[in-house]
Amino acid sequence: MNILLTGGAGFIGSHTAVVLSQAGHEVVLLDNFCNCRKSVLERLEKILCKALPCVEGDIRDTTLVIKTLQDYKIDAVIHFAGLKAVGESIEKPIEYYANNVQGTISLLEAMKSSGVTTLVFSSSATVYGDPQYLPIDEKHPTSATNAYGRSKLHIEEMLKDVANSGADWNIICLRYFNPVGAHESGLIGEDPNGLPNNLMPYIAQVASEKLPHLNVYGNDYPTVDGTGVRDYIHVVDLAEGHLAALAYVQHHKGWDVFNLGTGHGISVFEMISSYKYASGKEIAYQIKGRRTGDIAECYTKVDKSQGILGWHSKRSLDQMCESSWLWQNMRNDSV
Ligand code: NAD
Ligand code: WQD
Repeated sequence: MNILLTGGAGFIGSHTAVVLSQAGHEVVLLDNFCNCRKSVLERLEKILCKALPCVEGDIRDTTLVIKTLQDYKIDAVIHFAGLKAVGESIEKPIEYYANNVQGTISLLEAMKSSGVTTLVFSSSATVYGDPQYLPIDEKHPTSATNAYGRSKLHIEEMLKDVANSGADWNIICLRYFNPVGAHESGLIGEDPNGLPNNLMPYIAQVASEKLPHLNVYGNDYPTVDGTGVRDYIHVVDLAEGHLAALAYVQHHKGWDVFNLGTGHGISVFEMISSYKYASGKEIAYQIKGRRTGDIAECYTKVDKSQGILGWHSKRSLDQMCESSWLWQNMRNDSV
C-alpha cells in the first residue's frame, strides 16, 4: 500500500516509517519539522538503504495535502502530526486546538476530496483521565484535564462522526500508553527540544551527565514503591502495532479504537534501576512533591489489541533502556 504518515519525521512516525517500509509498504512523510530535525531523513535513509519521499509542509495547508495524496496515489493515512506537550497546551490552548483539531479537519477535507477514506489516528491514554479501574480497557470512560488531552478527545469524537456519516470511511484510533526507547540502530529516537518533560528522556540526560539529577515527582502514591506507575512501551513495538492496525483497518468499515501498551506497570524507581543497569551509570535523583495533574498508576488491558489486531508487545524494559541509551550516545553524531 501507499501510506502517508503525517508527522512522519517525528519520534513515533519515524519508527513506524521504518517498520512499514521494511514490511513492503511505500511510505511518504509529510512534516513541517516544528518538533524534529531534518537530519532524521538521512538517518532513515541509512537504516532503510533508500530515501523516503518527504513533503515539507503543514497539515493545515489543505491544498498541499490534496496534492500529496494525489501525487503519491495514497491508499491510507496514519496521522501522527500534532503538538503533544501537556504543560505547553495549558499555556497555549489556541495553538493546540489550531494545530491538532483544525489540522485534523484540514486532513479530513483533503482525504474526502481525494477519495482516500482509510485513516489511523494517534490518540493517547491521556483520554482516560484518572483511572477508575485497572487495567484500563477501551470501554473505560474518557475525560481530559488539559487542552492537549481535550484536543485528542475532540478529534476522536470528530472521527466517530465522520465514520458514521454514511461515506465509505475506515477509521481507527490508537491510544498509546507511554512510548519510550529507540530503534536498535541508535540512529533514530526521541529528540526533545529543551528540558525533557517525560521520564525516560530525562533519565537519559542524567545518565549522560547533561542534567545533574532526576526530580522524582512523588514517593507517596498508593503504588508498589510510592512512585508513579506507567505502562512504558518500546517505540518499535508501537510501530509494529501500526502495521497490524493498518492490516485491520483496510477491511473494517466505520470507527474503532485500540489501546497500545504492554499491560504491565513500571514505577519510577523501577525505571531508574533498569536504566542504571543498561547504561552502567549512576542516576542521581531527588524526591519532590507530586506533579500537578499526575495520576498514581496507569496500564492497559491488552485483550482487544491481541484478540483483534493479533498484536502484542515483545520488547522488555531492559531493551527499552538499552536502546534509549544507545540513541542518547549516538544522537549527536553525524550520520
Ligand atoms: P513528535 O513531536 O516527535 O512527532 C510529531 C511530528 O508532527 C513532529 O515531527 C512535528 O514536526 C510534526 N507536526 C506537528 N504539527 C504539524 C503540522 N501542523 N503539520 C505537519 N507536521 C506537524 O511526537 P510523537 O511522540 O512522535 O507523537 C506522535 C503522535 O502521537 C502525536 O499526535 C502525539 O500526540 C501522539 N502521542 C504521543 C505520545 C508520546 O508520549 N510520545 C503518547 C500518546 C500519543
Ligand atoms: C511518567 C512518570 C511522573 C518526569 C505524559 C503525558 C501523556 C503522554 C505521555 C502524550 C510519572 C514521573 C516524570 C520526571 C518524574 N503523552 N516523572 N520525573 O505523565 O504518564 O504521560 O507523556 O499523549 O499525555 O501526560 O509520562 O514520562 O511525563 O511521567 O518523576 O522528570 O514519571 O510523575 O509518574 P506521563 P511522563
